[in-house]
Amino acid sequence: MKFFADTADIADIRDLAATGLLDGVTTNPSLIARSGRDFKEVTREICALTTGPVSAEVVALDHETMMREAEILRKIADNVCIKVPLTIDGLKTCKALTSDGTMVNVTLCFSAAQALLAAKAGATFVSPFVGRHDDNGFDGMQLIADIRLIYDNYAYDTQILVASVRHGIHVLEAAKIGADVMTAPPSVIKGLFKHILTEKGIEGFLADWAKTGQSI
Ligand code: E4P
Repeated sequence: MKFFADTADIADIRDLAATGLLDGVTTNPSLIARSGRDFKEVTREICALTTGPVSAEVVALDHETMMREAEILRKIADNVCIKVPLTIDGLKTCKALTSDGTMVNVTLCFSAAQALLAAKAGATFVSPFVGRHDDNGFDGMQLIADIRLIYDNYAYDTQILVASVRHGIHVLEAAKIGADVMTAPPSVIKGLFKHILTEKGIEGFLADWAKTGQSI
Protein backbone atom coordinates (compact mmCIF):
# COMPACT_ATOMS: atom_id res chain seq x y z
CA MET A 1 0.00 0.00 0.00
CA LYS A 2 1.33 3.44 -0.91
CA PHE A 3 1.42 6.16 1.74
CA PHE A 4 0.79 9.77 0.72
CA ALA A 5 0.98 12.69 3.15
CA ASP A 6 -2.12 14.88 3.11
CA THR A 7 -0.51 18.24 3.84
CA ALA A 8 1.20 21.30 2.40
CA ASP A 9 3.54 21.62 5.39
CA ILE A 10 7.10 21.42 4.05
CA ALA A 11 8.73 20.52 7.39
CA ASP A 12 6.31 17.61 7.90
CA ILE A 13 6.83 16.34 4.35
CA ARG A 14 10.61 16.56 4.70
CA ASP A 15 10.40 14.60 7.98
CA LEU A 16 8.26 11.84 6.47
CA ALA A 17 10.33 11.68 3.27
CA ALA A 18 13.40 11.00 5.43
CA THR A 19 11.77 7.76 6.70
CA GLY A 20 11.81 6.40 3.14
CA LEU A 21 8.16 5.42 3.56
CA LEU A 22 6.56 8.34 1.74
CA ASP A 23 5.22 7.60 -1.75
CA GLY A 24 3.61 10.95 -2.58
CA VAL A 25 1.69 13.96 -1.31
CA THR A 26 -1.86 15.28 -1.66
CA THR A 27 -2.87 18.90 -1.19
CA ASN A 28 -6.18 20.69 -1.49
CA PRO A 29 -7.20 24.37 -1.43
CA SER A 30 -7.86 24.22 2.34
CA LEU A 31 -4.40 22.78 3.06
CA ILE A 32 -2.78 25.43 0.83
CA ALA A 33 -4.70 28.15 2.67
CA ARG A 34 -3.55 26.66 6.00
CA SER A 35 0.10 26.76 4.85
CA GLY A 36 -0.18 30.52 4.21
CA ARG A 37 2.17 30.04 1.24
CA ASP A 38 1.98 30.87 -2.46
CA PHE A 39 0.29 27.90 -4.20
CA LYS A 40 2.80 27.45 -7.03
CA GLU A 41 5.83 28.08 -4.85
CA VAL A 42 4.81 25.58 -2.15
CA THR A 43 3.76 23.00 -4.76
CA ARG A 44 7.18 23.32 -6.45
CA GLU A 45 8.93 22.77 -3.10
CA ILE A 46 6.78 19.74 -2.30
CA CYS A 47 7.48 18.22 -5.73
CA ALA A 48 11.21 18.46 -5.04
CA LEU A 49 10.85 16.48 -1.79
CA THR A 50 9.35 13.36 -3.34
CA THR A 51 9.60 11.54 -6.65
CA GLY A 52 6.01 10.35 -6.16
CA PRO A 53 2.83 12.08 -7.35
CA VAL A 54 1.93 15.43 -5.77
CA SER A 55 -1.75 16.27 -6.15
CA ALA A 56 -2.49 19.93 -6.87
CA GLU A 57 -6.14 20.86 -7.17
CA VAL A 58 -7.87 23.04 -9.77
CA VAL A 59 -10.37 25.55 -8.41
CA ALA A 60 -12.40 26.27 -11.55
CA LEU A 61 -15.78 24.63 -11.96
CA ASP A 62 -15.96 24.58 -15.78
CA HIS A 63 -13.99 22.31 -18.10
CA GLU A 64 -12.27 25.02 -20.17
CA THR A 65 -10.94 26.90 -17.15
CA MET A 66 -9.97 23.62 -15.43
CA MET A 67 -7.88 22.77 -18.51
CA ARG A 68 -6.20 26.18 -18.39
CA GLU A 69 -5.43 25.78 -14.67
CA ALA A 70 -4.16 22.22 -15.22
CA GLU A 71 -1.82 23.51 -17.94
CA ILE A 72 -0.26 25.92 -15.45
CA LEU A 73 -0.06 23.32 -12.67
CA ARG A 74 1.51 20.55 -14.71
CA LYS A 75 4.33 22.90 -15.75
CA ILE A 76 5.40 23.16 -12.09
CA ALA A 77 7.05 19.71 -12.07
CA ASP A 78 6.86 16.34 -13.79
CA ASN A 79 5.37 14.67 -10.71
CA VAL A 80 2.36 17.00 -10.42
CA CYS A 81 -0.92 15.09 -10.45
CA ILE A 82 -3.90 17.27 -11.35
CA LYS A 83 -6.72 17.00 -8.85
CA VAL A 84 -10.23 17.58 -10.18
CA PRO A 85 -13.60 17.37 -8.41
CA LEU A 86 -16.02 14.55 -9.19
CA THR A 87 -18.37 16.57 -11.40
CA ILE A 88 -19.26 16.30 -15.10
CA ASP A 89 -16.74 19.03 -15.93
CA GLY A 90 -14.17 17.44 -13.63
CA LEU A 91 -14.48 14.09 -15.36
CA LYS A 92 -14.38 15.72 -18.83
CA THR A 93 -11.12 17.33 -17.73
CA CYS A 94 -9.90 14.01 -16.32
CA LYS A 95 -10.54 12.25 -19.64
CA ALA A 96 -8.77 14.96 -21.63
CA LEU A 97 -5.73 15.10 -19.33
CA THR A 98 -5.22 11.36 -18.89
CA SER A 99 -5.61 10.81 -22.65
CA ASP A 100 -2.44 12.82 -23.16
CA GLY A 101 -0.56 11.12 -20.30
CA THR A 102 -1.12 13.52 -17.38
CA MET A 103 -1.81 11.99 -13.95
CA VAL A 104 -5.23 12.87 -12.55
CA ASN A 105 -6.66 12.43 -9.05
CA VAL A 106 -10.48 12.63 -9.01
CA THR A 107 -11.38 13.96 -5.61
CA LEU A 108 -14.48 14.35 -3.42
CA CYS A 109 -15.79 10.86 -4.24
CA PHE A 110 -18.62 9.78 -1.94
CA SER A 111 -20.27 6.88 -3.78
CA ALA A 112 -19.24 3.72 -5.61
CA ALA A 113 -21.20 4.91 -8.66
CA GLN A 114 -19.08 8.08 -8.74
CA ALA A 115 -15.94 5.94 -8.47
CA LEU A 116 -17.13 3.88 -11.45
CA LEU A 117 -17.46 7.09 -13.47
CA ALA A 118 -13.94 8.19 -12.44
CA ALA A 119 -12.51 4.87 -13.66
CA LYS A 120 -14.40 5.17 -16.94
CA ALA A 121 -12.90 8.68 -17.31
CA GLY A 122 -9.43 7.11 -17.02
CA ALA A 123 -8.54 8.57 -13.61
CA THR A 124 -5.11 7.66 -12.28
CA PHE A 125 -6.47 7.92 -8.72
CA VAL A 126 -9.93 8.21 -7.24
CA SER A 127 -10.17 9.74 -3.76
CA PRO A 128 -13.08 8.48 -1.63
CA PHE A 129 -13.24 10.56 1.58
CA VAL A 130 -13.78 7.98 4.33
CA GLY A 131 -13.63 10.36 7.32
CA ARG A 132 -16.19 12.80 5.94
CA HIS A 133 -18.35 9.82 4.89
CA ASP A 134 -18.27 8.47 8.48
CA ASP A 135 -18.91 11.97 9.89
CA ASN A 136 -22.18 12.07 7.98
CA GLY A 137 -23.49 8.72 9.12
CA PHE A 138 -22.28 6.61 6.18
CA ASP A 139 -19.83 3.70 6.31
CA GLY A 140 -16.58 4.94 4.76
CA MET A 141 -14.91 1.54 4.71
CA GLN A 142 -17.91 -0.11 3.05
CA LEU A 143 -17.48 2.46 0.29
CA ILE A 144 -13.84 1.39 -0.16
CA ALA A 145 -14.83 -2.29 -0.25
CA ASP A 146 -17.55 -1.58 -2.87
CA ILE A 147 -15.13 0.36 -5.08
CA ARG A 148 -12.51 -2.42 -4.76
CA LEU A 149 -15.12 -4.99 -5.87
CA ILE A 150 -16.24 -2.93 -8.86
CA TYR A 151 -12.71 -2.09 -10.02
CA ASP A 152 -11.67 -5.74 -9.73
CA ASN A 153 -14.79 -6.88 -11.65
CA TYR A 154 -13.67 -4.86 -14.65
CA ALA A 155 -9.91 -4.77 -14.07
CA TYR A 156 -9.88 -0.96 -13.98
CA ASP A 157 -6.38 0.50 -13.49
CA THR A 158 -7.61 3.49 -11.46
CA GLN A 159 -5.97 3.38 -8.05
CA ILE A 160 -8.14 3.69 -4.96
CA LEU A 161 -6.64 6.52 -2.89
CA VAL A 162 -8.32 6.44 0.51
CA ALA A 163 -8.63 10.06 1.65
CA SER A 164 -9.95 11.96 4.65
CA VAL A 165 -8.19 9.42 6.85
CA ARG A 166 -8.60 10.26 10.53
CA HIS A 167 -6.79 7.49 12.43
CA GLY A 168 -4.76 4.30 12.22
CA ILE A 169 -7.82 2.03 12.06
CA HIS A 170 -8.81 3.68 8.78
CA VAL A 171 -5.34 2.84 7.42
CA LEU A 172 -5.52 -0.74 8.64
CA GLU A 173 -9.03 -1.38 7.32
CA ALA A 174 -8.14 0.19 3.95
CA ALA A 175 -5.08 -2.07 3.70
CA LYS A 176 -7.17 -5.18 4.54
CA ILE A 177 -9.62 -4.28 1.77
CA GLY A 178 -6.75 -3.83 -0.67
CA ALA A 179 -6.89 -0.09 -1.32
CA ASP A 180 -3.91 0.98 -3.44
CA VAL A 181 -3.02 4.17 -1.60
CA MET A 182 -3.99 6.07 1.51
CA THR A 183 -3.36 9.72 2.21
CA ALA A 184 -3.31 10.93 5.80
CA PRO A 185 -2.22 13.91 7.87
CA PRO A 186 1.41 13.54 9.05
CA SER A 187 0.24 13.07 12.66
CA VAL A 188 -1.76 9.98 11.65
CA ILE A 189 1.19 8.51 9.73
CA LYS A 190 3.56 9.17 12.64
CA GLY A 191 1.03 7.57 15.00
CA LEU A 192 1.32 4.30 13.07
CA PHE A 193 4.89 3.85 14.35
CA LYS A 194 3.77 3.94 17.97
CA HIS A 195 2.82 1.07 20.26
CA ILE A 196 2.90 1.16 24.05
CA LEU A 197 4.53 -2.30 24.16
CA THR A 198 7.30 -1.19 21.77
CA GLU A 199 8.03 1.77 24.06
CA LYS A 200 7.91 -0.36 27.21
CA GLY A 201 10.07 -3.01 25.53
CA ILE A 202 12.77 -0.47 24.64
CA GLU A 203 12.65 0.93 28.17
CA GLY A 204 13.11 -2.55 29.68
CA PHE A 205 15.92 -3.58 27.33
CA LEU A 206 17.81 -0.32 27.93
CA ALA A 207 17.46 -0.64 31.70
CA ASP A 208 18.89 -4.19 31.60
CA TRP A 209 21.62 -3.16 29.16
CA ALA A 210 22.73 -0.38 31.52
CA LYS A 211 23.29 -3.03 34.21
CA THR A 212 25.86 -4.80 32.00
CA GLY A 213 28.07 -1.67 31.94
CA GLN A 214 28.91 -2.47 28.31
CA SER A 215 28.79 -0.31 25.18
CA ILE A 216 28.50 -1.24 21.50
C1 E4P B 1 -7.63 14.28 -0.03
O1 E4P B 1 -7.00 14.40 -1.05
C2 E4P B 1 -8.05 15.41 0.79
O2 E4P B 1 -7.05 16.39 0.74
C3 E4P B 1 -8.21 15.07 2.26
O3 E4P B 1 -7.94 13.72 2.54
C4 E4P B 1 -9.41 15.64 2.90
O4 E4P B 1 -9.44 15.26 4.25
P1 E4P B 1 -10.33 15.97 5.37
O5 E4P B 1 -11.70 15.41 5.29
O6 E4P B 1 -9.65 15.61 6.65
O7 E4P B 1 -10.30 17.44 5.06
